[in-house]
Amino acid sequence: MTKRRFLVTGLTGQVAAALVETTTARDDVELLRVGRPELDLADTAKIAPVLEALRPDVILSVAAYTAVDAAESDEATALVVNGDAPGEIGRAAARRGVPVVHLSTDYVFDGEKLSPYVETDPTGPVGAYGRSKLAGERALAAATGSHAILRTAWVHSPFGKNFVKTMLRLAEARDRIGVVADQIGNPTSALDIADGMLAVATNLLASTDPTLRGVFHMTSAGEATWADFAEEIFRVSASLGGPAAAVDRIATSAYPTPARRPKNSRLDCGLLERTHGVRLPDWRASTEAVVRRLIADRTT
Ligand SMILES: NC(=O)c1ccc[n+]([C@@H]2O[C@H](COP(=O)([O-])OP(=O)(O)OC[C@H]3O[C@@H](n4cnc5c(N)ncnc54)[C@H](OP(=O)(O)O)[C@@H]3O)[C@@H](O)[C@H]2O)c1
Repeated sequence: MTKRRFLVTGLTGQVAAALVETTTARDDVELLRVGRPELDLADTAKIAPVLEALRPDVILSVAAYTAVDAAESDEATALVVNGDAPGEIGRAAARRGVPVVHLSTDYVFDGEKLSPYVETDPTGPVGAYGRSKLAGERALAAATGSHAILRTAWVHSPFGKNFVKTMLRLAEARDRIGVVADQIGNPTSALDIADGMLAVATNLLASTDPTLRGVFHMTSAGEATWADFAEEIFRVSASLGGPAAAVDRIATSAYPTPARRPKNSRLDCGLLERTHGVRLPDWRASTEAVVRRLIADRTT
């Protein structure tokens, strides 16, 4: 079977690592990985030559400036990496005639809506990170029509830094942990995101249908507050003999951070299911799978 060349940006990120794992057993995909120092998204002039030299059939654009709080005091860098670089990636892809599947975020919304956001809802980021990611969506869309922008949220996995790992680490030392209970969203496993991205990329390679292109929401099914998420992590961990703590359900105001977060981060993923046939599993099942792996890693 001829392998298609899928190029992923970023070497150590959660989704990049998940893509490596997810494609290992596939005989139709050759995964090309490129990240710093060879590809530094802050050095925009060098992006196109690096990507073009790798001759991809499709680009999976996942690397980003993801430090939400740091972005508040370093918005200029976030705007280059998250805002300008996707435009360069899109221009390189357009010259080569290949599609781009790009990850974006729930933070493009202000969180004031009372129900899950759909793709056509007005954006209105409340922080620097969200502004930079929205700029990237626009730059990519202006650079190439052959793109799928997948907005996801609350990413966790066995890899890198994330909420699940933080909760398990804190529970090693504490009996009780205060966790925010007035922000609601969709905890989403990077492994499920990887599956979804590959399915969308395969669809874009197979068809020039314009309805497969544009902005889509892609999170796990179901919704939770951060406190619900923490309780589920500890429920699974305790059942496996791992660390667990009682969750004190606190207000956002009791846990101040440099960046404001949207109160409502929920994304309606119906469009992705109807057009691409992609629906990610329920967040509880994926959270359980991640916690099981992390607990197993501790005991081996
Ligand atoms: N994490 C979340 O909760 C979340 C939520 C919504 C959307 N997203 C989006 O999902 C995507 C993947 O997120 P993630 O959780 O996998 O991210 P992550 O674990 O924080 O990893 C970020 C990746 O981006 C790379 N990177 C950062 N700055 C770079 C630069 N200047 N040049 C090249 N690479 C750079 C890092 O490279 P190094 O390996 O060199 O450090 C790393 O591979 C991102 O586009 C993010 O905006 C994430």
